[in-house]
Amino acid sequence: MLTNADLEKMVDTTDEWIRTRTGIEERRVAGEGESTSDYAIAAARLALERAGLTPNDIDLIIVATITGDLPFPATASIVQNALGATRVPAFDLSAGCSGWVYALSAAHAYVSSGLYNRVLVIGADLLTRVTNWTDRGTCILFGDGAGAAVVAPTDEGLGFLAFELGSDGSGAELLKISAGGSRQPCTHEALDAHENKIFMEGREVFKFAVKIQGEAIERVLAKCGMTTAEVALVVPHQANMRIIESAVKRLNIPPERIFVNLQKYGNTSAASIPIAISEALEAGLIKKGDNIVVVGFGAGLTWAAGVMKWAY
Ligand code: ACO
Repeated sequence: MLTNADLEKMVDTTDEWIRTRTGIEERRVAGEGESTSDYAIAAARLALERAGLTPNDIDLIIVATITGDLPFPATASIVQNALGATRVPAFDLSAGCSGWVYALSAAHAYVSSGLYNRVLVIGADLLTRVTNWTDRGTCILFGDGAGAAVVAPTDEGLGFLAFELGSDGSGAELLKISAGGSRQPCTHEALDAHENKIFMEGREVFKFAVKIQGEAIERVLAKCGMTTAEVALVVPHQANMRIIESAVKRLNIPPERIFVNLQKYGNTSAASIPIAISEALEAGLIKKGDNIVVVGFGAGLTWAAGVMKWAY
């Protein structure tokens, strides 16, 4: 665990600044030797257990991540092997912090088309592995985590009602890791300049996030003819409390119907929404038949929102 007090010793910042600007108090940091697949596997096992299923019941595995174990093969293949989900297809999906909701929509498409019956959808990221610990504007934000769900057929009227996905690649340079891909190899110079770590134009991403979060929720609700009054719980990407609060203002959603746990974990990228849903379930905040809205945004720039009528 890394607290704001710990960060005070690492960069020129204060607990007060971090709390008031982001709402974050502490975040989890993976131990030496751990990798994204370890987190993904643990989350997958928990999701299977809660669904009363075994790895043999799964037909497809999708891992939403931007911090896979290796550039290739896909982390999903590592997870597939570790779970013993023998020979099922597995692939990674890269859409930044929107990744898990993108993956949910893909799983929904596979299941509703009949191509696959049960899809394991994992969101897992170890952002602290790619955090520039000398950049106070970003290093205070990120944490490590994983969450998972099983998407399967359900009764008529329950399950996914609508999705709203988008990408604006003109913002690709606002939030990125410059070196280590095909454009720029990871040279000694690049390492010295921290170009293998996250770079973010915080203010620009903040403005984008506030605008797109509200718009995406409005659009996805319009697609299923629903008003915010009918929504039991909004589970937003846990990036910054001020971004989440903007949804309260814009959409007039009571704060108690927006789930927040970012104070404990920081921004865990593709893991943040499934971790939040899991904790909301544990807290008894989600019941069968409830309309649940998920909304994420992140590198790409991308965004993704979904509405589901909780099915069990
Ligand atoms: N401690 C103290 N001061 C700081 C810190 C810090 N940790 N970081 C920045 N500051 C200073 C800045 O230097 C600046 O000082 P100046 O006015 O003298 O230049 C001042 O605080 C204000 O800086 P801003 O960048 O304007 O601060 P802002 O209120 O925008 O908050 C933050 C910064 C928290 C990064 C915000 O911009 C943000 O949350 N952006 C969005 C990040 C995000 O949600 N990303 C999601 C996607 S992540 C993904 O996809 C992987």
